[in-house]
Amino acid sequence: MAQFISLKTAIPGPKSLELSKREAAVVAAPMCDALSPAWIAEGHGALVTDVDGNTFIDLTGGWGCMAVGHSHPRVVAAIKDQADHFLHTDFTSVPYEAYVAVCEKLARLAPGTFEKSVALFNSGAEAIENAVKIARHTTGRSGVVVFDRAFHGRTLLTMTMTHKAKPYKVGFGPFASDVYRMPFITSYHPTIEVNEWEKLLTTYVDPSTVACIVVEPIQGEGGFRVPSDGFLEMLREVSRKYGILLVADEIQTGAGRTGKFFSIENWNVVPDMICSAKSLAAGMPLSAVIARKDIMDQLPGSSIGGTYVGNPVACRAASEVIDIIEDEHLLERAVALGTLIRSHWNAWKDRYEIIGDVRGIGAMQAIEFVKDRATREPATQLNGEIIKECVRNGVLVAGSGIYGNCIRMLVSLEITDAQLTEAFGVMETAVARANASR
Ligand SMILES: Cc1ncc(COP(=O)(O)O)c(C=O)c1O
Repeated sequence: MAQFISLKTAIPGPKSLELSKREAAVVAAPMCDALSPAWIAEGHGALVTDVDGNTFIDLTGGWGCMAVGHSHPRVVAAIKDQADHFLHTDFTSVPYEAYVAVCEKLARLAPGTFEKSVALFNSGAEAIENAVKIARHTTGRSGVVVFDRAFHGRTLLTMTMTHKAKPYKVGFGPFASDVYRMPFITSYHPTIEVNEWEKLLTTYVDPSTVACIVVEPIQGEGGFRVPSDGFLEMLREVSRKYGILLVADEIQTGAGRTGKFFSIENWNVVPDMICSAKSLAAGMPLSAVIARKDIMDQLPGSSIGGTYVGNPVACRAASEVIDIIEDEHLLERAVALGTLIRSHWNAWKDRYEIIGDVRGIGAMQAIEFVKDRATREPATQLNGEIIKECVRNGVLVAGSGIYGNCIRMLVSLEITDAQLTEAFGVMETAVARANASR
């Protein structure tokens, strides 16, 4: 018996259909590709209600932006309060405390005993672009090492750093130069051994020309791939050996999802820079580069920045998010959610052959669907059908993976056990049907 999902019309309902018509007439076609055919009217916690009055359980959390849930009352109050005072100055024109407060909190939370310095931007891609600029300026080198199945954004440089050609790169070249793609070592998709990585790097590029290695500690769009034991530690060692800066892209993994504020804290690895965004400001556009102070502070004034970066409303939201994560013990909640998610999904794995792998850390968990467990051939179409059936039945679920054959959990850490259990009822029905249809 559904407690939280409430479907009053077919999905999409008539008002959503009407909005889709208006959208098709005037909105750029590449933007008209939403997961949900239902248009949102309200979002609270892990629930979303559409314009036709249907309520969904949202496991996508705005593609991982809503760790503290949709419209958390404390975030909304901070935004309203800031809006009552002022909306914008540009921090480099007239400075304001909200910017400093976020930087103080991020510098305190980021791993490393060294002094840190923080720069704020708008989007994840902007944070990555700026981390690369900072690394190049600091080292006087141009090379950037990235990984297979990585995702770092859609601007020219970050699109180049992103692996997947379609839809992100096809037709958008020429790409930025000096980007070198190396294997991300993970057990379910074996490539090389951890101890072979350095040798491969040195055959590919002169490491003395590399400014930075940019790595997602757990790959997000790539399918929540968890690194093999020793991989991130090896990257730290190799980067230090060659004077290369190590940059952790925590845009999807950060802000508590893995049970640590920054996922890199799950390993004994301290990067030189961390990029944060998404859940940092609960959907307000804010990103950050947190760097060693000696690295960041050697850049000349105004060499990085932008008109809107570190907007005061977004800063107030981020400050509140960080406090909520601490006050509501959401790191512990992420760990507990991870245990609950895995107990369901591992039981499904025992029942359904199409599940090849269940993996992740904390609440950042994914299922990989395969046509055959031995060959691990991706079951892309089945994954798409499962997602569509979930949405039709009131559960918003996000796909991922280079072959689009994974489901990833990007749910709000505020979701209740009862909501999650109800969502899993819908998901399991879809998985069972897909399994039987093979
Ligand atoms: C790991 C990672 N890096 C960078 C980005 C780009 O962030 P944005 O879309 O805010 O530019 C994303 C977005 O999904 C991401 O997951």
